[in-house]
Amino acid sequence: MALRKIVTLGDPILTKKSRRVEKFDERLFTLLDDMKDTMRNQNGVGLAAVQVGVLKRAVVIDCGDGLIELINPEITEASGELQHEQEGCLSLPGKFGVTERPKSVIVKAQNRNGQWCFYKGEDLKARCFCHELDHLDGIIFTSHLTGPLETY
Ligand code: NI
Repeated sequence: MALRKIVTLGDPILTKKSRRVEKFDERLFTLLDDMKDTMRNQNGVGLAAVQVGVLKRAVVIDCGDGLIELINPEITEASGELQHEQEGCLSLPGKFGVTERPKSVIVKAQNRNGQWCFYKGEDLKARCFCHELDHLDGIIFTSHLTGPLETY
């Protein structure tokens, strides 16, 4: 188990676009394993590689129904129906706000072996997919707020 330091808001890396993963090698596996440990240690439901300072298009998600690793992910379908729920981010500790997101999405991504898979997300998982994929393009959830950003 290896924990990595989570980058917080104000670090310019969070605004950068991550690069596609080309090599599915040990280095990627170690990154994904460390991201999982770091996310679980912080009781998060998702983490993007950029949040541990690595500009690669890699994400881990666990909304309570098992770990998903998304490499080079893309949203291929988003519902017209929207949801407005509270969201937070491990890079903005203690900050929460209600965002507008699709109620359901379909994501296409590679797994750690490079195989393409499809994932459906509804409600929390849809928010999580959208939130983490945004990180890969340097976008923070505060861009989707429909109300104030609150501090707890
Ligand atoms: Ni986040």
